[in-house]
Amino acid sequence: MTRVAVLPGDGIGPEVTDEAIRVLDALGIDHDTHPFGGNAILAQGTPLPDETLAACREADAVLLGAVGLPELEGKPVRPEQGLLGLRKELGVYANLRPARAEGIDMLIVRELVGGLYFGAKGIRADGTWFDTCEYSRPEVERIARRGFELARERGGRLTSVDKVNVLHTSRLWRDVVTELGAAEYPDVVLDHQLVDSYAMTIVTAPETIDTVVTENTFGDILSDIAAAVTGGLGLAASASLGDDGPGLFEPVHGSAPQIAGQGIANPAAMLRSTAMLLRHGLDGAEAADAVEAAVDKALAMTPTRDLGGTATTRDFGDAMLRELRV
Ligand code: NAD
Ligand code: IPM
Ligand code: MN
Repeated sequence: MTRVAVLPGDGIGPEVTDEAIRVLDALGIDHDTHPFGGNAILAQGTPLPDETLAACREADAVLLGAVGLPELEGKPVRPEQGLLGLRKELGVYANLRPARAEGIDMLIVRELVGGLYFGAKGIRADGTWFDTCEYSRPEVERIARRGFELARERGGRLTSVDKVNVLHTSRLWRDVVTELGAAEYPDVVLDHQLVDSYAMTIVTAPETIDTVVTENTFGDILSDIAAAVTGGLGLAASASLGDDGPGLFEPVHGSAPQIAGQGIANPAAMLRSTAMLLRHGLDGAEAADAVEAAVDKALAMTPTRDLGGTATTRDFGDAMLRELRV
């Protein structure tokens, strides 16, 4: 029996998750809900309760809304630590962040469990605070391999993004990607770009981009830029995959505190993440296609406010479910 662990989280997370749960129900997929993020900190003192982690490990896939509460920003115990902890515990090192619009079809493959997010950090005796960017050869190689494999299935072109003109870890990154490409993926056209100017390319020439592979922090920033040029964060979905075990599926956006509680968040990113869950997490390509098609129709007919329309979160979910053919 297939089971999805659902973590609604904070802010608009539970609002968009409600619409995704209606889709799981329509497809007859079993699911259960668990505390996670800021609400779990307020209730239990930790963003990732043991019971929640255990349920995620045992599930076939994990569907996550968003975490983050303004009152916990910068506090010693934060919702975002739960998210990083969950990614690390599940070993989901490959974060697929597609961005599509008329004439644009790019996929950013973001390394998710290394780099600046997970390196040594602390406060030195002189009062200096520090974070450290660290990557090992195997960590770079496995994400590069994922990038090449995905590029091969798509348009056959892979762009590796780094900051080799400044960063030490980028030298390892570029060497490993280059070596792997030459040894095992000679059919994939590989190029290397520096992250600062590549951010501009995403804005000025998104239609030229196929598949991109990059490290954790760069991927975080570039994927919000890619979302912005393809309709905004209300549309951007993601899948986080390891080599085995359940994948984690979540929108690129956060808890959007400014609009939380109003019922106006766009659930499309969450519904597209649900489609990615069906495709990559449950081997349900047909259901995934059906969900994506229904979301596209709802976007055309029933746009939410972020897209210039008037539909509420529920209106969009209703329209999407009416269009869902399974
Ligand atoms: P955000 O993604 O929450 O919001 C950025 C902007 O996009 C805001 O204007 C917001 O209203 C808008 N937006 C986002 N999603 C939308 C949707 N579905 N429909 C309509 N508009 C939408 O980013 P932020 O404001 O920088 O962060 C808010 C909180 O979310 C922070 O606590 C942050 O740590 C957290 N966060 C969590 C995740 C996650 O859980 N995966 C991701 C990013 C940020
Ligand atoms: C994202 C978010 C997270 C990240 C935060 C909330 C930890 O911004 O998923 O893009 O930086 O990875
Ligand atoms: Mn982000």
